[in-house]
Amino acid sequence: MAQVFKSDLTLEKIVSLAKRRGFVFQSSEIYGGLNGCWDYGPLGVEMLNNVKQQWWKSMTYRDNVEGIDASILMHPRVWEASGHVENFTDPMVDCKQCKARYRLDVLFDELSLKKKKDLLRELDPQKFAGQQKDEVVEAEFAKLVATDQDAAKIAPMISCPSCGNKGTFTEARKFNLMFKTFVGPVEDQSATVYLRPETAQGIYVNFLNVMTASRQKLPFGIAQIGKAFRNEINTKNFLFRTREFEQMEMQFFIKPGTDDEWFEYWRGERMQWFIGLGMKKEQLQWHQHPKDKLAHYAKDAYDIEFLFPFGWGEIEGVHNRTNYDLTRHEQFSGKSMKYFDEETKEKYTPFVIETSAGASRSFMAFLVGSYNEEEAPTAEGKSEMRVVLKLNPKLAPIKAAIFPLVNRDGMPEIARGIEKDLRQYFRVFYDDSGAVGRRYRRQDETGTPFCITVDSQTLQDQTVTVRERDSMQQERIASAKISEYLTDKLK
Ligand code: GAP
Repeated sequence: MAQVFKSDLTLEKIVSLAKRRGFVFQSSEIYGGLNGCWDYGPLGVEMLNNVKQQWWKSMTYRDNVEGIDASILMHPRVWEASGHVENFTDPMVDCKQCKARYRLDVLFDELSLKKKKDLLRELDPQKFAGQQKDEVVEAEFAKLVATDQDAAKIAPMISCPSCGNKGTFTEARKFNLMFKTFVGPVEDQSATVYLRPETAQGIYVNFLNVMTASRQKLPFGIAQIGKAFRNEINTKNFLFRTREFEQMEMQFFIKPGTDDEWFEYWRGERMQWFIGLGMKKEQLQWHQHPKDKLAHYAKDAYDIEFLFPFGWGEIEGVHNRTNYDLTRHEQFSGKSMKYFDEETKEKYTPFVIETSAGASRSFMAFLVGSYNEEEAPTAEGKSEMRVVLKLNPKLAPIKAAIFPLVNRDGMPEIARGIEKDLRQYFRVFYDDSGAVGRRYRRQDETGTPFCITVDSQTLQDQTVTVRERDSMQQERIASAKISEYLTDKLK
């Protein structure tokens, strides 16, 4: 079976399939859409729920991790303590000519190698006169824009990608990414609250509540899945960078000094989670944050990156957040955030290892990673292209489709009976229209792992054919055993 096109996979194909088959729609589409916001359709919400459910199980079905669901709106002091009011900013420039707005670091990232070389030459003609290796140019350019002040100097030397004019960018300004709103009827400073930009803070402020209520001792973790909001200057690449998204975060509280060990442990667990759900090792890589680019709270940080059609992109961060957040909350709230170790009689502020995955980005990565176009045999012995989502069955939105081969001889009644039975436990789909080959193709495209067909043999021996999506192999199973069969396959 020839596999083709994997290297030609474009984001447009994914976006088009997602819309056509009801995975993801543009938000408020009939009004022209709202930038950076997307809606999950019938299949999308099933699959997203499956991603979140797999994460929830893998995190909280342990004896040392508890779950919570904190509110999105929190006391505004939380975000002062966390450092987000002061530091959660991106450098932004506007084009004075065409009014386009850009994140300065993204503008730099998207410059061609040639443009970077030209800029280096313009600034230091002697040093960069001759031929330079590509890696040297990249490294020198990264050095050039490493600080905010340096970056601001380079902005006027770049042409605006929208209108092409040079020297039209304003000076870079810091732009805070948190969305603001007001509690109560008066819209003034004292009523300002923020839509949370990360779910983690809801965990820190509940650290003592959870520990006491669940009688946990260190080391233990708290997990949460929920919406987060960031007023991103440039949204892009479908679900990759949006203004509203979901995170799956876990904060693991530990004794200081054991952080390096736990950091390695959680790195291993998290990479394995993606691989266990079907991502290929070659589509995943680690990226360690350089020390000078670490977030304000981090001692060490690694991203799990996935190979999207537009290149490598972060899907999860694993961070050593030290005791930064708890210490700051202690300072700002005046409440002790310390832990008393009854065995050693020590009192200390715990360190935290954070695993922070995007549910929406993981969803997109699973969609991209499972998309295949390949040749498949037809009933007439020819071959045709099929689009198939080779999703892990646990993530597939529909677990099985049920077909009567023809709409007579009692086959629809038997098929409906199987559907009714399976529906008690699984999300299934009944389809009786068109040739069976076409019905298979429709299910392949949405990643349904099993298709069950009632045919003339069923009338004689009560068996049905079960066709497996990836191998396209068929086997006969007693119809009374189908539910057991699916339960086994979905374990
Ligand atoms: N609590 C730590 C934290 O929020 P982060 O690296 O800023 O760390 C964690 O975000 C994850 O959240 C990312 O790996 C990504 O999957 C997801 N994420 C962040 N910003 C996003 C955005 N604008 N759109 C979609 N997902 C986003």
